[in-house]
Amino acid sequence: MPASRPLLAANWKMNPLSAGAAAELAGDVLPAAREHAGRVEVALFPPFPWLLPVARVLEGTEVGLGAQDCHWEASGAFTGEVSAAMLAGWCDWVIVGHSERRIHFGEDDGMVARKAAAGLAAGLDVILCVGEREEEFVDGRTGAVIERQLRAGLEGVEARGGRRLVVAYEPVWAIGTGRNADPDHAGRTIGLIRRTLVDVLGRPGQEVRVLYGGSVNAANVASYVGLPTCDGCLVGGASLKAAEFSRMIAEVAALPRAVAAGEEAE
Ligand code: PGA
Repeated sequence: MPASRPLLAANWKMNPLSAGAAAELAGDVLPAAREHAGRVEVALFPPFPWLLPVARVLEGTEVGLGAQDCHWEASGAFTGEVSAAMLAGWCDWVIVGHSERRIHFGEDDGMVARKAAAGLAAGLDVILCVGEREEEFVDGRTGAVIERQLRAGLEGVEARGGRRLVVAYEPVWAIGTGRNADPDHAGRTIGLIRRTLVDVLGRPGQEVRVLYGGSVNAANVASYVGLPTCDGCLVGGASLKAAEFSRMIAEVAALPRAVAAGEEAE
C-alpha cells in the first residue's frame, strides 16, 4: 500500500561546487517544500561538505537532510570515509548502494548490506538503491538482478527496521540519460520488490517504501508517483534546478492520494 505522503528525495551527487551555491539551492527549494509539506515529504542529499551549510538552511523546517553514502564501521582507520554513526543525530537519511558507487567505486552487495545495516543501526532512515544495467534489461534479466541485489542488501537488516527503510528502484540505463523507464516496467519491478520485501522481512516488509529513480523530471514525475505501488522518486539532475524541483513537488502534491486512517478527507 503506497504511503499517503510520497517522498521526493533530491540526490545532488557531486554538486554544486560551493557551500554558498548549496545553501542557495536548498533555500530556493524551501518555499515549495513548505507549501506542500502536508502532501509531499522532501529530503535533500548534498555532498558531505555541504551537509552542514544545508542543515542550517533547513533548520526548523520539515525538509529532511541526508548523506549520499556512509561507511559501516562507526570509526577507525578508513581514510576518506564518513560513518553512519557520524551522521546520526543531525542527519535524517543516508543513501546506500547507489549504482554510481557500485560501478565507479567497486561496491558489492556485501558492502551495501553492511552500509544499510549500519545506517539503520545508527538510527538513520536508509534509501537502499537497486537497479539493472542496460544489458541485463535487454536480456530480460531485470527481475533476477533486482531480486539478487535486494535479498543481498537486506542481509543483516532486521525486520523491525522496515519502517525506516526505503528501496529505490533505479535502472542504471535510465540514470542521467534522459531515458526514463516506461512506467509499466517501473511498476512491475516495484511489484517484484514489494513481494521480495515481504518474503524477506515478513509483515514489516509491507511498511518499506519503494521509489523509482532515473531521469525523473517535472514532466514525468506524476507517471511514477501516480502508480498504485510507488511511494515517490529519487531525483538526480532535475533536483539541481530549484524551479524544476519545485514544480515536481507541486505536481506530486496535486496527485490524488489514499487517505490514511484518522486523517480528514479534503
Ligand atoms: P537522474 O539521477 O535523475 O539524474 O537520472 C537519479 C539518481 O542517480 O539517483
